Amino acid sequence: MSRLETRLTSDPVDMEAFAPIAAWAFGNDCRSALEWLERGDPGCLRVASRGAPRGTSIEAGLLEIPMGQWFGGERLSMLGIAGVAVAPEARGQGVALALVQSTLRAARERDIALSMLYPSTYRLYRKAGYELAGSYCSFTLQLGKLPRVPRALAVGSLDGAAAEALYRRVARGRDGHVDRGPYVWRRVREPRGEPTRGFGVSDASGLIGYVYARPAELRKVPLELSLSDFVIGDRRAFQALLGVFAEHSSVAERVTWHGGPADARLLGVPERALEVRIEQYWMLRLVHVERALLGRGYPELDAEVDLEVEDAVLPENSARYALRVQAGKPSIGGAARATRRARLGVGSLAAMYSGFVSPRELATAGAIEADERTLATLGAVFGGPAPSSADFF
Ligand SMILES: CC(C)(COP(=O)(O)OP(=O)(O)OC[C@H]1O[C@@H](n2cnc3c(N)ncnc32)[C@H](O)[C@@H]1OP(=O)(O)O)[C@@H](O)C(=O)NCCC(=O)NCCS
Repeated sequence: MSRLETRLTSDPVDMEAFAPIAAWAFGNDCRSALEWLERGDPGCLRVASRGAPRGTSIEAGLLEIPMGQWFGGERLSMLGIAGVAVAPEARGQGVALALVQSTLRAARERDIALSMLYPSTYRLYRKAGYELAGSYCSFTLQLGKLPRVPRALAVGSLDGAAAEALYRRVARGRDGHVDRGPYVWRRVREPRGEPTRGFGVSDASGLIGYVYARPAELRKVPLELSLSDFVIGDRRAFQALLGVFAEHSSVAERVTWHGGPADARLLGVPERALEVRIEQYWMLRLVHVERALLGRGYPELDAEVDLEVEDAVLPENSARYALRVQAGKPSIGGAARATRRARLGVGSLAAMYSGFVSPRELATAGAIEADERTLATLGAVFGGPAPSSADFF
């Protein structure tokens, strides 16, 4: 059998060849699968094929979604991966793993630091060096339990550029939130191609909160208002938007949105009207370990630790990283060995790096070798707010 090769493409012939594979993989029809591919960023479909140049020989594919991700208040380049699909005839032969590995290698060559995805199976992605690293929670607010609150601030139409700026300002403080690129913003504004309405709350300084909303199902009363984005910059914005929700309560039963397990909104909900569920855990991969360690923000502390990292998929990452943090500023290098040393695989590093599991929990899972003092130091260095994302892709 000839070698499996992967390539990025925007060729309609390739898209049409991959659409039935994606459709079958996700229980969709070919037309909708093709429309979904067309909503991807141009040239971001990666296909795997053997021999023949275009179209017919395609066995698998995935969508690359270039964007950023925040950790410790700093933005790192991140490649989102979605829609990994292998033709039924080609499954069980290592095609998906080879495709993901080749995607990671190409990402590293483009100096991308991280990769994130929502897994449908852990085994495949763990083999590729990903590990669970954050949550994606769903919130349901029961409007019947919500007192009607007078609005102190007016709610108006929404300016897209102002919404993007406010999202960035808020998301920067939430570890794991993505710096959305065009594809994710399209999903926010037109989830599955359906239009939304944006409502914004402003004060003299500009936009301080907004939602993008639509009915979860058309012509179904009582309504569920589904928010594809819900961002508040301060408490007044939250109160104003709660007021908007309450004013829909004659026909709407509930409002739903996604985000991290805890943020300022929880403190503003006046009654026990909120149901929360961890819908998914997402996985993270350190594509370029050095860039990832140097690019994130750290608490303002001083620490030194040698991290001995093993990476079977991208062996260039396998090395000893003498990580030094001085007043929160990271550097790597220096001949002198730190007194604190840890050994771990690149997947375990991802789970610790994001703050998803503490180093001590990693040790309990047998996923890191380090003494107690080193575990405590690593906990201080990588600890932070529970990593989360408001975006599924
Ligand atoms: C999941 C899918 C992509 C796997 O493709 P594949 O080419 O058969 O996978 P590979 O042969 O490369 O498997 C690599 C590893 O992952 C494991 N794996 C693959 N599919 C798995 C599954 N459904 N459950 C558990 N492990 C799985 C394999 O066992 C293998 O590990 P091993 O060598 O230790 O046994 C394919 O079944 C598919 O297209 N499914 C439908 C769509 C889907 O779920 N996509 C993933 C979206 S995130």
